Amino acid sequence: MQAQMKTGTDLDRAARILREGGLVAIPTETVYGLAANALDEQAVLSIFQVKNRPAFDPLIVHLSRAAELDRYVYGVNELIWRLADHFWPGPLTLVLKRKSLIPDLVSSGLETVAVRVPNHRLTLDLLTRIDFPLAAPSANPFGYVSPTCSAHVLNQLGGQVGYILEGGDSSVGLESTVLDLSSETPVILRRGGIPEEELEDFMGYKIHKMLSSSYPGAPGMLQSHYAPRCILLTYSGDEWRGLASRMSPPRLSGATWLRFSTALIEIEEQQQWILSQTGNLAEAARNLFRAIRELDDRSPSIIFAEKAPNIGLGRAINDRLERASTKNGGP
Ligand code: TXA
Ligand code: MG
Repeated sequence: MQAQMKTGTDLDRAARILREGGLVAIPTETVYGLAANALDEQAVLSIFQVKNRPAFDPLIVHLSRAAELDRYVYGVNELIWRLADHFWPGPLTLVLKRKSLIPDLVSSGLETVAVRVPNHRLTLDLLTRIDFPLAAPSANPFGYVSPTCSAHVLNQLGGQVGYILEGGDSSVGLESTVLDLSSETPVILRRGGIPEEELEDFMGYKIHKMLSSSYPGAPGMLQSHYAPRCILLTYSGDEWRGLASRMSPPRLSGATWLRFSTALIEIEEQQQWILSQTGNLAEAARNLFRAIRELDDRSPSIIFAEKAPNIGLGRAINDRLERASTKNGGP
């Protein structure tokens, strides 16, 4: 009963909790966020505590519209306005030069801050009711798979948030693409909901990428992000067979397959989760985190995860699979 009342579409209640310095889980088109008043350092601190997130991993600030940019960042030039105009509201996060109105804690003491306008009706409505932006990381315990529906949030953080805004399933299902525009050369720091090809078409040139955890400008790009509890290995084509042939029969019967589009005929249907029957990348992206969660919840002996084609959103899908895989810090 109590748990049910935690979730709903009461925007007044959500706004009230946020004004009082509390936490509200918000739906966005990418994943659900764990939101607090970005201008209230104490409220922001509780995000880090609830997520068990290290303070060196900066947060994204969510604005109601691009016109607010000037208030929080320096140096908004022609290119930034054009990008904002074209991609917002949407899954593109821009790293820009931070004004001091944004507390140090939000951006882990960096001179920059990450901002975006999310594309979700309820959350945009909420943002217009409050007079501050929302700092929000994905609403999962640090290091686990991001939530793409309210139930994911309720299951993991239900006891620690004031309210969960019910906004249905996230339509994109992967976090935003992070583009650093704080220096001369634009750099993609994280692949995500806007494919790099689309950004490159818009810019008219190839964009640099710095996707590894070793880049100090992106302290949150840790390899072990998105890890499920069980063992997950990525593969292409028939690569899984080699390993499977060395597994004991009971272990093999406890294995599961996260398939991109086609089922394996020789494996039981219940042991497979197919991301998109038609091989559609957007659909596969939308289903990815739910699939990992559902498979993980069955405590399989292993998840064999098939890589997506390495184009468009497929690159972001593969990025998340790599980070979820056991060699990158999973169990
Ligand atoms: O789609 C999304 O981006 C979701 C929704 C809720 O908006 N949010 C999200 O937040 O994925 P989070 O905290 O899980 O990831 C934010 C990423 C981190 O990898 C962090 O390192 C990077 O953005 N980031 C934030 N501020 C930064 C900054 N000033 N410089 C470089 N990277 C930054
Ligand atoms: Mg996250």
